[in-house]
Amino acid sequence: MPRVNAPAFQENYFPTRLAVPASDVVGRRDYIRNLVFDLSSGENVVVVGPRRVGKSSVVNRAVSDLEKAGKTKVLTVNFGSVVAGDQFVQVVTDQLAPVVGVQPGWFAKLKSAGASQRTTSLMGKLGPLGQAGVALVEEASVGRRVAGALGLVTEFALLKGSPRVVVVLDEFQDSAAVDPKFESLVRGEADRAKGRVSFAFLGSAPTMMRQAFSDRRRPLYRAGQSRPMPDAEVAEWAEYLESKFAAARIRCRGRTLDALLEGSAPHAQNTMATAYHLYRMCCLNGITDPGLEEVRDAVAVAAESLADIFVGEWDRFDAGERTVLGQVARRLDVYEHVSLDHRQRNARQRALKRLTEDGVLLHGQGRGRYEFREPMFDRFVQDRLGGSR
Ligand SMILES: Nc1ncnc2c1ncn2[C@@H]1O[C@H](COP(=O)(O)OP(=O)(O)OP(=O)(O)O)[C@@H](O)[C@H]1O
Ligand SMILES: [Mg+2]
Repeated sequence: MPRVNAPAFQENYFPTRLAVPASDVVGRRDYIRNLVFDLSSGENVVVVGPRRVGKSSVVNRAVSDLEKAGKTKVLTVNFGSVVAGDQFVQVVTDQLAPVVGVQPGWFAKLKSAGASQRTTSLMGKLGPLGQAGVALVEEASVGRRVAGALGLVTEFALLKGSPRVVVVLDEFQDSAAVDPKFESLVRGEADRAKGRVSFAFLGSAPTMMRQAFSDRRRPLYRAGQSRPMPDAEVAEWAEYLESKFAAARIRCRGRTLDALLEGSAPHAQNTMATAYHLYRMCCLNGITDPGLEEVRDAVAVAAESLADIFVGEWDRFDAGERTVLGQVARRLDVYEHVSLDHRQRNARQRALKRLTEDGVLLHGQGRGRYEFREPMFDRFVQDRLGGSR
């Protein structure tokens, strides 16, 4: 029999991966309200922010608010998982399937069916976009099918009586894998849809994303308003965590809560992961009143659980960026202790610019002084360099 005052276990209590359910979205309330307003006004928005800050969670929350209010159809494509042309077509047409009156999977079914079947049983059920859907399947090249699928979204939005459409393109920096001309295709459709379709472009490489929308030689030049995503406030995390733990009959407040926040906040995923590990420890050991030692363990285990992600991120930095990160982890002035030639100095400047723009480093006190935005990533780099501090 469970003890009356034991912690209460619930699944997915502190979600640590991917976009979180709407009720677990911490902070960013003004950001979400502005997003809802922009997307229902026909604006295209570019949601940029450092890694794992909560872009997908926050945009999901905004578009689910929009859908609940009615009159908006939301389509989502995540280029983290959609990596080929026909996969894109499938994902887009599946989301249109309910509104054109067919079953999901229609594109693949039509594609594998023979030409004769396409005009008989399978076509019988199709709605107003049915003909366009079949035409899409008949397209000979994958590029034309991708273009056709995007075009279908516009056609849908322009149909009489259709709701407004919001298209969420997540991990947009990887969209070229689906089609090298994807940016041009989107530009064409955005112009053709005359404000009936709003796009939300999300990307975890802020520098790259900004370039796509601010370089006049690129197709999406000025096609969307850049909306940098802030971290949630530490106070907002405190409120969420205290009440969420309390609802599970765990006391997490005062010094315990402060220590948890100090180890991870305000970075969204780090804080959620630390909370999850403290919760797990409490549930497994029947602890209802964790102290500083438990929090220290939870911070350490959370950091370990994120190590694979950190390794992946570290591998993507170039040599110049790693040098700068190493200096910051060693608490060195990035302009000191090194004699560099002109080319190396330029490389350092470029690295500093990218690392601050991408939200990996923050400016500290004084010239040459930088600090990590994420304390856990800071400790990871220190360990990687042999714990030198
Ligand atoms: N607003 C939030 N409230 C609570 N937790 C959040 C929030 N945003 C992010 N998280 C935590 O961070 C994790 C990653 O969030 P999400 O996938 O939304 O971030 P992202 O910025 O889209 O990441 P990526 O850079 O990988 O695309 C979530 O699983 C959750 O643990
Ligand atoms: Mg994301």
